[in-house]
Formats: sequence, C-alpha cells, structure tokens
Amino acid sequence: MNYSVDALKGKHIIVGISGGIAAYKAPLLVRLLVKAGAEVRCATTEHALQFVTTLTLETVSNNAVYSDLFAPHNEHSTEHISLKDWGDMMVVAPATANIIGKLANGIADDALSTLLVSFRKPLFLCPAMNTQMLECHSVQRNIDYLRSQGVHFVESTSGALACGTEGKGRMEEPENIVAQMVDQLNHDDGQQDYDGKRVLITAGPTYERIDAVRFIGNYSSGKMGFALAEELAGRGAKVVLVTGPTHLTTHHTNIERIDIESAEEMYRAATGHFAQCDAAILSAAVADYRPAERADYKLKKQGDSDMTLRLVQNPDILATLGQQKQQGQRLVGFALETNDEEQNALKKLEKKNLDFIVLNSLQDAGAGFGHNTNKVTILDRDGGKTVGTLKSKAAVAKDIADHLRSLLD
Ligand code: PMT
Repeated sequence: MNYSVDALKGKHIIVGISGGIAAYKAPLLVRLLVKAGAEVRCATTEHALQFVTTLTLETVSNNAVYSDLFAPHNEHSTEHISLKDWGDMMVVAPATANIIGKLANGIADDALSTLLVSFRKPLFLCPAMNTQMLECHSVQRNIDYLRSQGVHFVESTSGALACGTEGKGRMEEPENIVAQMVDQLNHDDGQQDYDGKRVLITAGPTYERIDAVRFIGNYSSGKMGFALAEELAGRGAKVVLVTGPTHLTTHHTNIERIDIESAEEMYRAATGHFAQCDAAILSAAVADYRPAERADYKLKKQGDSDMTLRLVQNPDILATLGQQKQQGQRLVGFALETNDEEQNALKKLEKKNLDFIVLNSLQDAGAGFGHNTNKVTILDRDGGKTVGTLKSKAAVAKDIADHLRSLLD
C-alpha cells in the first residue's frame, strides 16, 4: 500500500459481506485491515457463505463470524447489538442491490441487515452488481438516499463482470477500499483549516456542440475535481464547483454546484466567481477548440464526400484568472501530459501566472482520466517539487488542499 494506514491502528472494524461473486475478495480486504493494525469481525448474509467460507473469514480475521441471527452461541440472540457497540466503523464489501435496498428501507431480516439497521457509526458500502442492476432506478434511489444520510459509498468500477458482460458494477479493489476508509477517518478528525475561505473549483469535461446530437468531448469523469470540492468543503471552505457534464453527485452542503456544458459557459461561470474567492483550483479538462459553426439540427451525411469541421479557439480560463488574480489570491492549475511532462507543466505554471501546478501523466498506470486513483507531482513557482505516489483521488485532493493551505494568509 502506498498510503499511510496508521489511522486504522487499534480500530474495531466490522466487515459485512453480502451474497455476490465479489465476496471472494472479502478475505483480502480483511487481511489488509488486520495488517494495518485493526481488529476485524465479519458479519455475513447466508448467501455470502455460498461464495466465501466461514472458516476462511475466521482464519483471516482471527474472530468468530456472525452470520446467523438465531444461532445458539449468540448471547441471548442479540449479537447484532453487542457487535454494533463494539465496531468503530463498518464496511460492506460486496454490497449487493439487496442489502443496499434493505438498509435504505429499514428491513432487518437476517444477521447482516439487522446489524446494519442498528449501526450508527461511519459506514462504507462497496456496491458490486451487474450494470443494469446498478443503473436500476430504485437501486440508484436507494444509493442516493443512503448517501444523503451520511453513508459513504466506495464506487464500483468498470470492466468485465461475472455475468459475462462489460460495464460498471465491479467492486473496487480491496486496497482502494482501505484507502478510502483511511481518507475518511483522517477527514473525520475534524480539521477545519479552511473555515472562512472561499474556493472556486472547475471539474469534468466540456462538451463542444457540433449539431443537435453530436459534440466534441473528452474522457474526464470529474472525480478529481469533485474529490477536491468534498475535501475543501469538509475542511470548512465554501466551494463554488463549476462542472462539465458528469454523473457524479455532490454531498457537502458547503458546495455550491454550477453545471455547465461548454468551455465558454465554464469561462463565464469561473470568471464571474473568481473575484469573490480566496483561491481557485482548475482541474477541468477544457476543450481548447470548439466548432466554428453549430447546427441546431442534426447534420446529414453528404453523399460519399468527406466532411471538414472548422474549429476555433476557446478562451483559456486558467490564463484569464491568472491575469485577473489579485494580491493574496491563489491560483492552482492542473496539467495532463503524455510526454515532456515536467517541462510542459512548468511552461503552463509560468505562462498562466499560477502559484503551483498539479501534474498528472497518462504514462502512469492508474493516473488521469476516469480512475479512482491518481499520481501527481506538485510543481511550485519557487522551484519546489513534491512527487506523489499512486493514491485515491480523495487522498490526492487532501495533499493539494494541504499544499494550498500553506500558501493562504
Ligand atoms: O476528471 P477525472 O476523470 O477525475 O480526471 C482528472 C483530470 C485528468 C481531468 C485532471 O487530473 C487534470 O489533469 N485536469 C486538467 C486536464 C487538462 O486539460 O489539462 P491541460 O494541460 O490541457 O490544461 C492545463 C490547465 O489549464 C488545466 O488546469 C485546465 O483546467 C486549464 N484550462 C485549459 C484549457 C482552457 N481552455 N481553459 C483552462 O482553464
């Protein structure tokens, strides 16, 4: 693991396991938590034990497994009560549509669901299911509801699924689940060092319309920018988040979200808010060009002939804010590079009048677009250089927030 897991030392963690094929990864999660110094107890549904055995879980956790609400060895059949008091935090991996639905609706009909409904401390759910199930309206409604109640979701990833299809729905890897739990624990320690600060953040892609049905876009998911927004808001900042099209949701009430589509719209929103902000972090992947003409109908194929699309330059939002920057304001840019990374990033730092730039390279596995992780190097105006390791985007956001904080005031 490339991050500090000290926060887990001595913690009592309940690992809940529900009945999906990803349950085979649960013993690895338990091992990582135990290795990090946590004491772990497992609670499972009956179906989970079709995928992973009690013996395996007992061996890796060094503790009895709680799976039967009415087993005679459970003290007065109220183990869910003593276990919920014992646990400092709980993670359910995998979390099936069924267990998510039960918790969202207060259904307690087995060992795991009974424990979940009574648990009031930090809770992480790691959904794992077929894409169609994940996208199902009622599953999404349950997830949204639980999020609004403070439940943390470790988003599932995309790839080959057990049902033989490809898509979103794979359980996040155990290492990344642990990373997100650590981030949250550190976060919950209650640092409020951005209290009274206002920060502008741009996130996601821009879509540049060609006609009524087509656009030029890019692969940015918005995850990096949203992680920054949550981190800063959690530390007391008022955040203005200007985001391009993304499926992500914001959670913290300190975040004012402005949804835009094109670079020009992002430009207007960002330049309109910057003057009232102490700092701005521009993590969006903004299209440098847009079509010179936009049709408000669907363009038709022109026989056998090719088509040429004329592009014109978009405004450079970061460079504009660099010109508008007042004394005391801080400006942070990102650079996504594929070659001559540092050299290119340093040019942007200078040219756009930044305080520091966050460089990520598409040469690094797990970094850049779409991933839940990133690997960045922070380059300062005074020549300082901080090389990071691959970590969750939430952890990268924390590093950036720490770096920026030292430059404010
Ligand atoms: O959204 P994710 O999937 O989580 O991915 C995160 C990310 C890869 C998008 C993010 O980490 C990142 O690197 N963002 C910047 C991507 C980019 O377009 O870099 P750039 O080198 O082209 O632009 C340099 C800087 O200028 C960026 O801060 C960009 O926001 C800004 N810019 C660029 C063009 C423009 N017209 N206006 C701008 O403000």
